[in-house]
Amino acid sequence: MKHSHPFWQIIRTVPNFPKADIDFYDITPLLWHVDELINELLNALPDGMIDEVECLATTEARGFVIGSLLSGRTGKPLLLIRKAGKLPPPVHRQSYDLEYGTDTLEIKADAPKSKVLLVDDVLATGGTLKASKLLCEQAGHEVLGALVLLDLPKLHSDIGMDTYAVMNDVD
Ligand code: PRP
Repeated sequence: MKHSHPFWQIIRTVPNFPKADIDFYDITPLLWHVDELINELLNALPDGMIDEVECLATTEARGFVIGSLLSGRTGKPLLLIRKAGKLPPPVHRQSYDLEYGTDTLEIKADAPKSKVLLVDDVLATGGTLKASKLLCEQAGHEVLGALVLLDLPKLHSDIGMDTYAVMNDVD
């Protein structure tokens, strides 16, 4: 397996966490390199796309970190997609499968409708991003695509939206 992006020297791979046969990619050491991290996220998008984005939709919990850093750089507002029971009503709710388990996400139903870019740290099975897209659409937002730090293409097929990644685990 070839890992060409320099961030692979910073990310820590933890085998058998949180369960046997799962390789956990610990992205937190990259948070010591926030300028480079946000530069690379913006470079992963097609030219001019960020100008079309009206809002960043981020998913609890690690997505919040990436999304907040990107919001701080770009000035784009944030839509929070949270684990169930955290947001006050009215909300939309969506259950989904994770790489290891299931979960339920919610989004506020009363935020201003906007063109959103989904932002998360990792794309694995795609369950989180697919549920996040459905939630955004239920709330009346238009999803332009998804931006992630790390894509694991072997764990998913087409997830039904344009995706942009800084790095992946196959090249
Ligand atoms: C992780 C990660 C992504 C998601 C990717 O979230 O932050 O949101 O899994 O996996 P998928 O593509 O298979 O859905 P998780 O809920 O595990 O943990 P977190 O709360 O630490 O972000």
